[in-house]
Amino acid sequence: MKRLLLSLAIVLTSAMAFAGEGMWIPMLLQYNEKEMQEMGMRITADDIYSINHSSLKDAIVLFGGGCTGEIVSDYGLLLTNHHCGYDYIQQHSSVEHDYLTDGFWAMDRSQELPCPGLTVIFLREMRDVTPQVLNEVTSEMTEAKRQATISENIKKIIAEVEKETKYKASVKPFFLGNEYYLLLNEEYTDVRLVGCPPSNIGKFGGDTDNWVWPRHTGDFSVFRVYAGKDGHPADYSADNVPYKPAKHLEISLKGADEGDFAFVFGYPARTSEYLPSIAVNQEANVIDPIAVDLRGKILDIYNTYQEKDKKVRIQYASKHAGLGNGWKKWMGVTEGINHFHGVEKKQAYEKDFMEWCNASRQRYPYIGLLNAFEKKYKELEPYRVAYTYLSNAGLNIELIDFAGSFGRLSRVTKETPQEDIDDMVASLKNATKAFFKDYHQPIDEEVAKSMLTEYLKQPADFRPGFLNEIKDVDSYVNELFSKSMFVNEEKVNEFLDGFKASKVKKLQKDPAMKAYQSLIEFYRNDVNPKMAPINKAIDSLQRIYMKGQMVMEPERRFSPDANFTLRVTYGKVEGFKPQDGKTFRHFTTLEGIMEKENPDIYDYVVEPKLKELYNNKDYGRYADKDGTMHVAFTASVHTTGGNSGSPILNADGRLLGLNFDRCWEGTMSDLVYDPDICRNISVDIRYVLFIIDKFAGAKNLIAEMDIVE
Ligand code: ARG
Ligand code: GLU
Repeated sequence: MKRLLLSLAIVLTSAMAFAGEGMWIPMLLQYNEKEMQEMGMRITADDIYSINHSSLKDAIVLFGGGCTGEIVSDYGLLLTNHHCGYDYIQQHSSVEHDYLTDGFWAMDRSQELPCPGLTVIFLREMRDVTPQVLNEVTSEMTEAKRQATISENIKKIIAEVEKETKYKASVKPFFLGNEYYLLLNEEYTDVRLVGCPPSNIGKFGGDTDNWVWPRHTGDFSVFRVYAGKDGHPADYSADNVPYKPAKHLEISLKGADEGDFAFVFGYPARTSEYLPSIAVNQEANVIDPIAVDLRGKILDIYNTYQEKDKKVRIQYASKHAGLGNGWKKWMGVTEGINHFHGVEKKQAYEKDFMEWCNASRQRYPYIGLLNAFEKKYKELEPYRVAYTYLSNAGLNIELIDFAGSFGRLSRVTKETPQEDIDDMVASLKNATKAFFKDYHQPIDEEVAKSMLTEYLKQPADFRPGFLNEIKDVDSYVNELFSKSMFVNEEKVNEFLDGFKASKVKKLQKDPAMKAYQSLIEFYRNDVNPKMAPINKAIDSLQRIYMKGQMVMEPERRFSPDANFTLRVTYGKVEGFKPQDGKTFRHFTTLEGIMEKENPDIYDYVVEPKLKELYNNKDYGRYADKDGTMHVAFTASVHTTGGNSGSPILNADGRLLGLNFDRCWEGTMSDLVYDPDICRNISVDIRYVLFIIDKFAGAKNLIAEMDIVE
């Protein structure tokens, strides 16, 4: 019965007009245009991506290598998330100027702050180069020969185009190596911080609300791209001028209503929608639960200390956010895959695939695939588990990880040039300062005890050697922390001062360094050499399986997995029903911020100025037609990490908000997308403008934007 219901569900989903899934290649959007227009879009594919005239793509950038940003004025003004700009805001913050806490606003261009190291990348053009890349590649070739031929071809293609253009060329595989596209990019390196709200607004709800709906985070920050006088990229100079884009986004004040068409344009990092069921099951039910369990234990320890001590709370805030982000997401993945039968859906699909394979002798290249996956993933599993322990239970012991950063220094010999040593010492001095600023030894000792206890439950041949010498965890940890110099800032600095090759011995004898070396050797000798060839074999199976699916379903439009290239994804503004009896509305308001307010809980402190605006209902033209101030909204648009900061646009291609998260019930969308449950979360652009205008009084910024009432 269950079987039957499941196949029925699959038939129904594929028969539905629109399923929300898919991260589409902008240059091929003409194939989606009809569907997008039927859903309500009033612009054309050509308005979104064109190389013949300006189009929306000219306003979208890869921000800081990991997020998306968009240009909203003729003077290079850029919006992205607060959590994407965080590092640069922090860079400029000090006790006197605490921009993280208080926010920052440049009231004219001279006050904008340069951000060394921050870059934005514009995609200028993309081309399908599949035939050139696969030239002389045959199905009889060994995998190694195939890869070598492809690399050679790519080198040639890049050398050719770089002769005819000033842009940076790269070639990336799509559809797991069945297609290849050339990307021509332009990178700007003078990007300046223009403004950000206080963390009470930009990070409101903090880690407590992360991945969760209803959400009230004003997750935005403002930057400006600068160019040389000729408009082309130039390193920072006071003489640089604001970048004039071919296109900037217009901003809509109309807001988003339930059922409205919406699309997201940005840089999704990684999805794996075409894995076999065994891989999905391994991810959701073996690997993720291990990482969740280990990180959960660490986070519990952090929490206990963070609650007790304000200084510790700040010291561990960023570490907590980092570990907590994955921890919460993976919990959602496991829950979602199991609750919504992700593995069973894949199995039903595989049954159809096998039947299709068996129906014709011509389909022989695909026949053995699923058995081969089964075998390879079983072989892979223990090594993946070992790797998960290594990175979560091993390297989250801060002392051991910190010792590891001295690895290069421990290989210094009498022959090493003094210059190199000086460089290493200087950078380690900085690292030491940064480490101790945020280090609380009692936490780390407790984490070490907990993690090593867990690690010891692993079979002896799947754990690093140093563990096999531990007789009693408590006494090992006590000794580790009392004997290692890496718990003591003074000792580390003393050691670094006047460092010479003869000091290397002391380093190698340090118990924390020894533990680190043992972890790394275990990885180098026992994990990686086994795991890498299995992964290679899986990559090749995966490529053939992708091809097989495309041959089996010639009518279906497949979208390639995310690979950090520019994509368009679309759906509708809508709420959802995560559980029986639970329904979520698609938007939140300032009322919700006031409901959550709690001066004693760091994540829920409300800025007095914001409260005042709320009490006076001073929303100006940014209020919704219902009279309230909308803060965030959900949509059924397929997004993932990297889409942070991406514009979410309406039927006319005007800005509605900035994407910043997903609802955790639907985080399995990286593996299996379910249109009923997967929702992205965006901050409403009207809230962003309200904060810039009414809260910060940065009217100069409002004036240069293109706001459509
Ligand atoms: N979950 C979002 C993402 O994956 C936001 C993370 C930053 N926010 C936070 N509260 N930790 O990146
Ligand atoms: N917060 C994520 C990011 O930084 C986006 C959320 C997601 O994974 O959907 O890219």
